[in-house]
Amino acid sequence: MAANFNNSAWFYDRLSRLVYGKALVNAQLYLIGFIKPNSKILIVGGGTGWILEELTKLHPSGLNIVYVEVAADMMAISRKRNTSDNHITFIQDAVENVNLQPDFDAVITPFLFDNFTEQTLKTVFTHLHRSLKPGGQWLNADFQLTGKWWQQFLLKSMFVFFRLICGIEASKLPGIESHFNLNGYGIIGEKTFYNDFIVARVYGR
Ligand SMILES: C[S@@+](CC[C@H](N)C(=O)[O-])C[C@H]1O[C@@H](n2cnc3c(N)ncnc32)[C@H](O)[C@@H]1O
Repeated sequence: MAANFNNSAWFYDRLSRLVYGKALVNAQLYLIGFIKPNSKILIVGGGTGWILEELTKLHPSGLNIVYVEVAADMMAISRKRNTSDNHITFIQDAVENVNLQPDFDAVITPFLFDNFTEQTLKTVFTHLHRSLKPGGQWLNADFQLTGKWWQQFLLKSMFVFFRLICGIEASKLPGIESHFNLNGYGIIGEKTFYNDFIVARVYGR
């Protein structure tokens, strides 16, 4: 069964802020600082869409954003965001089903991959890789394990919780970094949050 974040749409932001404070937000604010004016951007799994308003604060116009989110309830909240004069195309579907042009300047995947199995990660990664144009940037934020016991504890708790509420398929963090390495990406920028449990990386190809 594929994950369904509809059930969590109404409390997701509040819960994540309760557990992680502003760390999940700050990781994404760090990433969007790399977005250049007039970019064509693909956002996948943007949740309630608050990132659209943050992008708009940095670039009130000129952005061309394709926003793909599979959960209808998340999408409904995202559509109400203030995006000023930017152009947003909302697509409510699993991104692997969406036909994407290979011309994006930036792809943003904020906490998208952590609940994927290795197989789903491979499928989605390959699909997104093809959409990024040469010289483009891939902005990814996610959890990582750096050997501290409480990280495993928090991660396991999240998997149990989101399996119950949203039916996520994963029970461990998939090998996200190896896909970037195998596909020839280099790290342009990196910052960690929440005692290294959260990492935001900017990759170039
Ligand atoms: C863990 S949430 C993160 C939400 C948001 N990025 C944030 O940080 O607040 C992951 C989001 O990705 C969406 N998602 C999961 N798989 C997807 C897919 N294959 N295509 C598009 N969206 C997906 C879920 O519906 C959910 O809203």
